[in-house]
Amino acid sequence: MKSARKIGLFGFGTVGKGFYENLKKHPHLPVSIEKVCVKRLDLPRIGHELYFTDNPDELLSDPELDIIIELIDDAEAAKYYVEQALLAGKDVISANKKMIGESLQDVDNWHQSFGSHFLYEAAVGGGIPIVHSVDGFFRDQEVKEIRGILNGSSNYILTQMQRNNWAFEKALSEAQAKGFAERNPVLDVSGIDASYKLSILAYHAFGEISSIKSFEIESIEGVTKEVIKRAKAKGRKVKLVATLKKTGHEIVCSVKPENISPNDELYSVDFENNAVSVETLISGRHVFVGKGAGALPTGSAVLEDLKRLLDGYSYQVSKRVKTVA
Ligand code: HSE
Repeated sequence: MKSARKIGLFGFGTVGKGFYENLKKHPHLPVSIEKVCVKRLDLPRIGHELYFTDNPDELLSDPELDIIIELIDDAEAAKYYVEQALLAGKDVISANKKMIGESLQDVDNWHQSFGSHFLYEAAVGGGIPIVHSVDGFFRDQEVKEIRGILNGSSNYILTQMQRNNWAFEKALSEAQAKGFAERNPVLDVSGIDASYKLSILAYHAFGEISSIKSFEIESIEGVTKEVIKRAKAKGRKVKLVATLKKTGHEIVCSVKPENISPNDELYSVDFENNAVSVETLISGRHVFVGKGAGALPTGSAVLEDLKRLLDGYSYQVSKRVKTVA
């Protein structure tokens, strides 16, 4: 019988704990968390049976660990840990959309050099299996458009303002209390978090690297109660919509608040839910809806990556036939 694969985990915040809780429900999986690296050892924690350290080298230089799971919010440190782990021949999982979105060229190089045993489903759309679907299921299809709601916190805020007339600040605090928002919530409300996610989808849909600097990005901070009231009077809702369109040889991306009518598939996607609609040339439109933020949904996407790694799965993006020049 094959021995259990040993995991080194970076981070034990919202997503780390969500992953840990999900993993406990799957005792049959041939894996064990050997070491967890956290910034502060003095915080009270669940997971008393786990070994905690604040020294990253204890994980990175341990040849016994064959899988590194990186779930921290510091993009710079995350990139270093991921790269070191890949160089050491380990399989790696990350949920860091900022790091991946900002480093797509390096990510592409890693996929080429290390056989793509680097997965990051939890970086986009929380529990929705969208990276895997765009990368694998739609690999041989021409993607024409991706459109959706890719940030749970801003959708939660807009939903509470719309349904319950909450003030923006109250809704944001609640999104933070529920563990949906980033440590720096400006990323959520500004559209930047959704833009990183869209750039990751663009990479898997087209095999092309696009920087969010070329995106049209607009914050939801300009969506006042008055704006929402006007939309409501017309039977509409305001949502932060991410759109990626292929026009000729160009990919055009935007993230901005839009007035959504009831016959739009995004209309009923409320609270922290996300939705991604993928339109392909051959099979038409496919809509994925699910929880886009929160410990358990995001942790479950990490667990799905772990199961795929155990099955030897790697991303197919380098095999995608490029449809954009
Ligand atoms: N802050 C993110 C969101 C978490 O609200 O969507 C999930 O990526």
